Amino acid sequence: MAEVIIVPDAAAAGALVADEIASLIAADPEVVLGLATGSTPLPVYEALRPRLEGVDVSKVRGFALDEYVGIDPEHPESYRNVIRREVVEPLGLDPARINTPNGALETIQHAGDDYEKAIAAAGGVELQILGIGTDGHIGFNEPGSSFASSTRVKTLTEQTKKDNARFFDSVDQVPTHCITQGLGTILRARHLVLLAFGEGKADAVAGAVEGPVSASLPGSAIQLHPRVSVVVDEAAASRLRRADYYRYAWDNKPDWQGL
Ligand code: GLP
Repeated sequence: MAEVIIVPDAAAAGALVADEIASLIAADPEVVLGLATGSTPLPVYEALRPRLEGVDVSKVRGFALDEYVGIDPEHPESYRNVIRREVVEPLGLDPARINTPNGALETIQHAGDDYEKAIAAAGGVELQILGIGTDGHIGFNEPGSSFASSTRVKTLTEQTKKDNARFFDSVDQVPTHCITQGLGTILRARHLVLLAFGEGKADAVAGAVEGPVSASLPGSAIQLHPRVSVVVDEAAASRLRRADYYRYAWDNKPDWQGL
């Protein structure tokens, strides 16, 4: 099962996950990280910054989860630009080693396969950071996505378009399609770290961790993975039935086990 870690706030979650990522980079300067967009992972990137000062990160590799299809590559909200602004530049990573699925229309028919090949050629993702949508989506795998899916084009739900309209002038400007790592792709990463904060994520977290494994709640795919850390604040943990057990297990965790 997933290890559920209930922390006081997003900053504590960021510190915990940043410690783990900094140790991975120390152990392997060419480590392959799975990066995510959205507001949820931001505390991790913020906490990483001081931890990586003076560390050679020039060989760190990364793969983002998803991108909008057909978005102007110069658009500030293309995920390529978001990852550059929020992760690559502040942490001093080499942009040439950080990949985002290619949403350009000209190459979209093989962009998913190309991305899968690039991840495989890099040796796979070591640690994949994940947020979760209020409807339980991870990456842009909307409800109904196959657990065996690879990187491919998906149609965004009306809800996701509305949720993301804040980054555009209007909801009509939000692209209809995205290209996202599949649930099968995500499950191939060696360690999944799913973060969630706030009451609005409580149902999605409870469904992902304790609900039935169902394509109707894509986040529940994490139950099929052997190594998952779910790092949540009290509000996001508020609908978990076994919260007392998770706290007990974390409080009594042997030091040598790490995250
Ligand atoms: C988008 C992203 C997801 C992210 C979700 C939640 O749909 N594609 O990767 O998990 O939004 O975003 P936030 O973390 O801002 O709540």
